[in-house]
Amino acid sequence: MSLPANYLQMRSTVSSEGQLRMELVEKQMPTPTENQVVVRIEATPINPSDLAVMLGLSDSSQATTSGDGSKAVLSAPIAPQIMPALKARYDQALPIGNEGAGVVVAAGSGEYAQSLLGKTVAAMGGGMYAQYQVVDAMNCLPLLEGNTAKEGASSFVNPLTALCMIETMRMDGHTALVHTAAASNLGQMLNRICQADGVDLVNVVRKDEQEKVLRDMGAKYVVNSSKETFMKDLINAIHETGATLAFDATGGGHLASNILSAMEAAAARTPGAYSIYGSVKHKQVYLYGGLDTAPTTLSRGYGMAWGVGGWLLPNFLAKAGMEVAVRLRTRVAKELTTTFASNYTEELSLTDMLDADTVRRYDAKKTGEKFLVCPQMPI
Ligand SMILES: NC(=O)c1ccc[n+]([C@@H]2O[C@H](COP(=O)([O-])OP(=O)(O)OC[C@H]3O[C@@H](n4cnc5c(N)ncnc54)[C@H](OP(=O)(O)O)[C@@H]3O)[C@@H](O)[C@H]2O)c1
Repeated sequence: MSLPANYLQMRSTVSSEGQLRMELVEKQMPTPTENQVVVRIEATPINPSDLAVMLGLSDSSQATTSGDGSKAVLSAPIAPQIMPALKARYDQALPIGNEGAGVVVAAGSGEYAQSLLGKTVAAMGGGMYAQYQVVDAMNCLPLLEGNTAKEGASSFVNPLTALCMIETMRMDGHTALVHTAAASNLGQMLNRICQADGVDLVNVVRKDEQEKVLRDMGAKYVVNSSKETFMKDLINAIHETGATLAFDATGGGHLASNILSAMEAAAARTPGAYSIYGSVKHKQVYLYGGLDTAPTTLSRGYGMAWGVGGWLLPNFLAKAGMEVAVRLRTRVAKELTTTFASNYTEELSLTDMLDADTVRRYDAKKTGEKFLVCPQMPI
């Protein structure tokens, strides 16, 4: 197959003057090295982890678009107090888009790379908001016969994160989980996994409709942080499940602290689980997302056996090793259209991504509203 000499790739730049600029740049078609492949990207999702890099914490309510077609440019101001945190990326046009799927159209001479030629694969590695991308063959997951690129677009970030939460639980000696922003795309996958694997999961949501989404899926424990009975409900659910590990997607405010307080109160109900320094069992909250940008506030009142820390998928996978990664990827490929199915509310071309009104909609990160970029759609 003859490939075009050039292709378009989305770039995001934060200027030292405090402006975000997003635009398409023309790149030369690369020649893959021995263990690389070139993927014609057909579908790539917009996840919260993409938005952070893509929009550079700019104020999307003030975003504007100039020009059109492949010359469209999105601009948005960034608040001065945020700028120091972005210093490492000032004035660099960064490629964006963590994962995607498409057809392998060129491959290096390596055996595995060659075996992927012509196959539809999911891929990770960055720069996926592009018509083509070169990736390491090892970062490709061949989809099973009959599965499409759109079905495989979200094969890595959310499926592997949900699976690795369970792996973390087992490795760290916990037996049940608490999860926040639990009606998210990832949260729904986690519910399906936990139900299939017999793991108790306490879902924390903030709206009645999110409660309904999860209960309709068969979730047993759903607590709503906007209800007056929230703390009581959370303590009861933690007591029943024995959860001592939480993954908090909000990251900010009091939620992590409230979860630790609830774990402590639940432990206090169990004779022997307590010492003069608080409950004995280690309680851990991992802040794995930043949906709430407020500072994280800890009101310590839960003894001394607790921890709050960050958690990132690639770091966990590096620690868990290749065998675990292969086992989890194999499960994702097998259950792609069931456990790990993602629903998209809208499909966007690369230029649609630069439309200011569209940006405001996908930056809202609302429950059930996921956007899929289809780079082969006409510009
Ligand atoms: N650390 C890692 O390695 C890693 C990997 C993958 C994903 N993640 C994180 O996983 C999270 C979920 O991703 P996703 O793709 O599944 O998200 P998603 O489908 O876009 O859903 C986002 C959810 O978050 C809720 N939400 C937004 N702002 C909130 C806030 N301030 N407080 C409480 N809930 C809020 C939304 O509910 P409303 O409708 O109420 O707004 C929605 O249910 C993200 O935070 C992402 O960054 C982390």
